[in-house]
Amino acid sequence: MSVHIGAKKGEIAENVLLPGDPVRAKWIAENFLDNAVCYNEVRGMLGYTGTYKGKKVSVQATGMGIPSALIYCTELITDYGAKKLIRVGSAGSYRKDLGINEVVLAMAASSNSGFNKANFLHADYAPTASFELFMKAVRFAEENNIQFTAGNVLSSDVFYEEDEHTYKKWANYGVLCVEMESAGLYTVAAKHEVQALSILTISDSLVTGEKLPSKDREQSFSRMIEIALGAL
Ligand code: ADE
Repeated sequence: MSVHIGAKKGEIAENVLLPGDPVRAKWIAENFLDNAVCYNEVRGMLGYTGTYKGKKVSVQATGMGIPSALIYCTELITDYGAKKLIRVGSAGSYRKDLGINEVVLAMAASSNSGFNKANFLHADYAPTASFELFMKAVRFAEENNIQFTAGNVLSSDVFYEEDEHTYKKWANYGVLCVEMESAGLYTVAAKHEVQALSILTISDSLVTGEKLPSKDREQSFSRMIEIALGAL
């Protein structure tokens, strides 16, 4: 096992879906994968491996925020040989024309996190999606008539912002929505020369204050999982 994942070598696929929430990892495994087996319960951060259309796929919860996500992504890549990692998560919309339930493909992830500052000192690193995975997701969504918006997202360290208007600054520079992990995933994937993409579903809006009721989340999240599995 690695420091935080209790799987043996070979028990995790090269293709991994990454929800933040362990309960969602279980839901994905039970509803989208065949013969899914749980390989990790350490810290309740559930991980499963099964097959999708005959292909081996794992789903590993990452927890919330870049520090937690970086632990799981790093160990999946360096200890278990993961090669294609797709985050499937929720996000808060920064735009009036990006409503609840809509799907976002994160081409790039800006961040207010300090995790890259130590590495790049006063310069900015631009974490970006894998072009190959991104294009596969775009093609799958278009072929299956699934609407999406593609662009820059914000990976924030702060869920409850002090200033409720902070979002406007990012929105003014074209940032579509806020979540908490993609910049970490894209950076660690680039470092290890593997592919990464974040697919997000809008669960709340900073513009209107709307929130997706939890009972309605499953159906809208299904579209995002279908795109992720289609891209793999
Ligand atoms: N994930 C879903 N909604 C979010 C929000 N408003 N801020 C940060 N992460 C989120």
